[in-house]
Order: sequence, then C-alpha cells, then structure tokens
Amino acid sequence: MSDEREHKSLWTATTPLPRYPALSGDLEVDVVVVGGGIAGLTTAWLLKQEGKRVAVVEMHRVLSGQTGQTTAHLTELLDTPYDTLVSDFGEKGARLAAASVRASIETMAGLVTRLGIDCDFQRVPGYRYAETPAQVESLEREASAAREAGLLCSLTDDVPLPYPVLRALRVEDQAWLEPRKYLGALAARIPGDGCHVFEDTQVTSIHEGEPCKVTTSRGVITCRDVVEATTTPLNRVLLHTKLYPYRTYVVAGRLEGPLAPGLYFDSEDPYHYIRTHRVDGQEYVIVGGEDHKVGTEEDTRRCFEALEDYLRRRFPATEVAYRWSGQVIEPADGLPYIGRNGASHHVWVATGFSGTGMMFGTLSGMILSDAILGRDNPYAALYDATRVKPAAGARDFVQENADVAFHFVADRLSRPDAKDLSEVPAGEGRIVEVEGEKVAVYRDDGGGVHAVSPVCTHLGCHVHWNTAERSWDCPCHGGRFSPTGEVLNGPALKPLACKKIR
Ligand SMILES: Cc1cc2nc3c(=O)[nH]c(=O)nc-3n(C[C@H](O)[C@H](O)[C@H](O)COP(=O)(O)OP(=O)(O)OC[C@H]3O[C@@H](n4cnc5c(N)ncnc54)[C@H](O)[C@@H]3O)c2cc1C
Ligand code: FES
Repeated sequence: MSDEREHKSLWTATTPLPRYPALSGDLEVDVVVVGGGIAGLTTAWLLKQEGKRVAVVEMHRVLSGQTGQTTAHLTELLDTPYDTLVSDFGEKGARLAAASVRASIETMAGLVTRLGIDCDFQRVPGYRYAETPAQVESLEREASAAREAGLLCSLTDDVPLPYPVLRALRVEDQAWLEPRKYLGALAARIPGDGCHVFEDTQVTSIHEGEPCKVTTSRGVITCRDVVEATTTPLNRVLLHTKLYPYRTYVVAGRLEGPLAPGLYFDSEDPYHYIRTHRVDGQEYVIVGGEDHKVGTEEDTRRCFEALEDYLRRRFPATEVAYRWSGQVIEPADGLPYIGRNGASHHVWVATGFSGTGMMFGTLSGMILSDAILGRDNPYAALYDATRVKPAAGARDFVQENADVAFHFVADRLSRPDAKDLSEVPAGEGRIVEVEGEKVAVYRDDGGGVHAVSPVCTHLGCHVHWNTAERSWDCPCHGGRFSPTGEVLNGPALKPLACKKIR
C-alpha cells in the first residue's frame, strides 16, 4: 500500500473537494456554526433555507473530521440496543428514537432527490447477524424490542454473506451513500446571500451574550446564535464527563466475487461493520471495527492488523487498498446530546453520536435549526443536552470517569517510555525523561527531534503516542495532537507547549 493511501479514507482519496477561504477580519452573521462535518453543514444549510445568514467555521478542511472517515451506513440499528433504550427511556422514548432516526434517513434521501445530488445513495437492507448461540439469544431479544419500536424488521436464516452465520435481524429500507459527495454538494450550496464557509479558521473562544462573540484565529464573528458541531464540544467540562471517546478502524479491499448490497454488522463486542462501494468500476468491501478507548492501545498498528486478518478470513481473495481510522463519541446514557448547552440561551451543542452519527448529525441539523428559528421539534426533548439520567449508563459513567481520574494521576507517576533520546526511533514518539521532566519527543523520518510537553492543553492529562497514525492522543476526553503538537482533534484548543531540549 502506498503511503498516500495510508490513513486516507476511500472517499477522501477519491472525491476531491474545492477549497474554501479562511476568514479574513471581523464579520457579523445571524448564526456561527463551528465545524464542517455532517452536523455543522446540515444545520447551516437548513438555516440558510430559512433566510438566516450563517458562517460555517472549520479549523482544518471541510469534511476532514469524522465525517470524512465515516463508512456511511444509514441505519436504524443503533449502537444502543432497543431493549436498553426501552429500559432507560421507556417504550415511548425508544419509539421516538427509532422515529427520529427514520426521519433523518428520509431527510437525507429527500435532499438527495430534491437537490439532484449524485452521491451513490442507495436503499439496501441491513443485517445484524449472530455467529454463536448466545448471540442468537440476544438478537432475538433485540428483534422484538426493535419491532415494538417501529422498525420494519424480521429474523432470518437467509443472509447473503459468503461465510456461514447462524441468524440475522434483517431491517428493511436502510441506505448508504458516499459522504463526501453528499455533503460536498451541501457545502457548495452554503456560500452566498450573506452565508459563508471558512476553512483553516480555528475557533478559540465563544463568548455567550446578546450578541455572542466568536473569536477565531483570523477575526471575531458577532452573531445571535452559535452551534458547536465539533464532535466534542469546546471546553465544556460538565458535558465531557458524559462523553467517552473511542478510536475505530477501517480497511477497504478490492472485492473478488459478488457480495449482495447491504449493511452488515456482526454481534461481537466491539462489533464489525461491513458494506461495499464501487469506484471507477472497482467494487470495494469496507470493513470497520477493533474499537478501543482513545490513547489506551499500546500499539495501534495491531488494530489494523487484526482488522485485515478479519477481512481476509471472510473475503479471502481481497487485497487491502485503503486503511484509515477515526473517533466516535459514546454518550453516557446511550443517546446523543443535542440542544442548548447548559444554561446557555444562544450556544447549542451536538455530540455523543456513537457509531451512527450520520443519522444523528442530520438530526442535529433538524433539531437545532428548529430551535434557533423558535419552532417546536418532536425530538428535541428526547435529546435535550442538559438531561441527567442517573440510572441509565450509571456503571459506564462511574467507570469512564474513574478511568479519567486514573490517567490524570497514574500517567504523571508512570515511568517514561525512554530515558534517552537515542531510544526514540525515526518516525516514532516516546515520553522521555529529560533533566527530571517528562517530555513528549518525536523523531521525524529525517532524524530531526521535536519535543513538546505531554500535558494535554484541555484539562491536563498526559498524552500517549499513537504508532499507526503518528499522533499524540489524550486518553481523558479524546484530544489529539500532531507529532509536533498542533491540535488535530478537540476538545483541546491550544497546541502542546514546545519544549527546548539539548
Ligand atoms: C471510522 C468511522 C466509521 C463510522 N461509520 C459510521 C456509519 O457507518 N454510520 C454512521 O451513521 N456513523 C458512522 N460513524 C460516525 C459518524 O461518522 C460521526 O458521528 C459523524 O460523522 C460526526 O459528525 P460531526 O459533524 O459531529 O463531526 P465531524 O465530522 O468530526 O466535524 C466536526 C468538525 O469540527 C471541526 N472543529 C473542531 N474543533 C474546532 C474548532 N475549535 N474550530 C473550528 N473547527 C473545529 C473539526 O475539524 C471537524 O471537521 C463513523 C465514524 C467513524 C470515525
Ligand atoms: S482531552 Fe481533556 S484532558 Fe486531554
């Protein structure tokens, strides 16, 4: 595999997008949307349709975040099983969640048709399949809860996969699309009539007021409302205790032999997700999985190796052409947080989408555009970002926050990875003790040494080196930094501090 394809998603490698300008100087609009992923672009586009002047502000390139890494299964099979949703949100809540996800798939389908977007949108069935008797049992429970919630689904032994499975829950009328083609087309329609898309413009602070002031690296924007569509919200300490960041991995291989169009999910924990996609006459099978908490896997190359092994055992003649990874944010009680941020009146958040953020990103656009326009939305109360559900996900809440506290303390006390700079190989990073202080040291391919502080600029946990992706990752809230310390992923806003070493 060439280096160029390493860590670029199939869509990023094959669907180029135009550049948008950076902000230059101060500006006034009605709404600032921070983040150019599915949540931000959908919100911005819907608000523009209602006559609002909107500015999308993206710190890197549009669709370079998690939406550029997604596998774009559009499905009602949520990461939180329907029987869990029934226990935590009641039967009515589970039905409302299913209806909201259906509505977001239909919103995407409607936009594709109405705007004539050429993005390979296709309706396909979805299958969650079981390979062991224990998995069959839990599938049967899920089937009855999903049916009660309103999904058009059935249990079947007829699964069109080239390897044996015991049973599957088949859901009708799911879909897939090519995310950069779909959202690239929405982004292209935003500039004009007082609306803007800005790239290479980092939001560094948001001052809530009437009006709000959004400070960026390139000017201040005055506005009435601000939407934080940044995967994890910027520096919201309280909300971060309810959000758990995970890395997930994907490989795409040239498929030999047919595979019926469909979305396929196994029942392992974490589960694998499978679909196909055709580019220039070549069919690719795309397999994702091997999720782990950010910053906790010692050698992330092993996750790709495990995934490739999984792919080859099921699709033996497949040659891997692309591999990439991304981040999903798990919410404490199983559903995303979409709505007003805490006690704010004009700052809105959209986060905690798990592995089904194509639907929840679209839904965020629907809920937040209604909220800003002062309209009722049938799903707003269910996803209220200020809700506290003490019982739902309580064990995970305690465990995940205990992990954060553990990393905060233990990483400071732990031994450095290396005692001497000579122990840092080219292309790698290590925590090295230099003159009694821990320093995050990266040696580039040419042998040059770059040293930064390992203290994450969000809330002070220590970063860990990610071997496969060459980044410094924070295990506490998922902040990620380049080898030389620049912010790749929030919630951190500032780069890792530079360190001078002899
Ligand atoms: C590998 C992978 C596979 C997935 N597969 C599926 C799937 O099959 N189906 C599904 O429904 N979901 C899937 N998901 C989940 C889904 O893709 C995401 O939940 C969704 O794309 C998140 O969209 P977003 O708009 O919230 O975030 P993003 O797309 O990450 O957009 C947020 C943007 O905010 C920008 N930003 C952050 N901070 C700042 C700042 N301070 N200033 C300016 N800009 C900022 C970032 O650069 C980023 O571009 C997958 C995710 C991954 C990683
Ligand atoms: S991301 Fe919160 S401390 Fe690093």
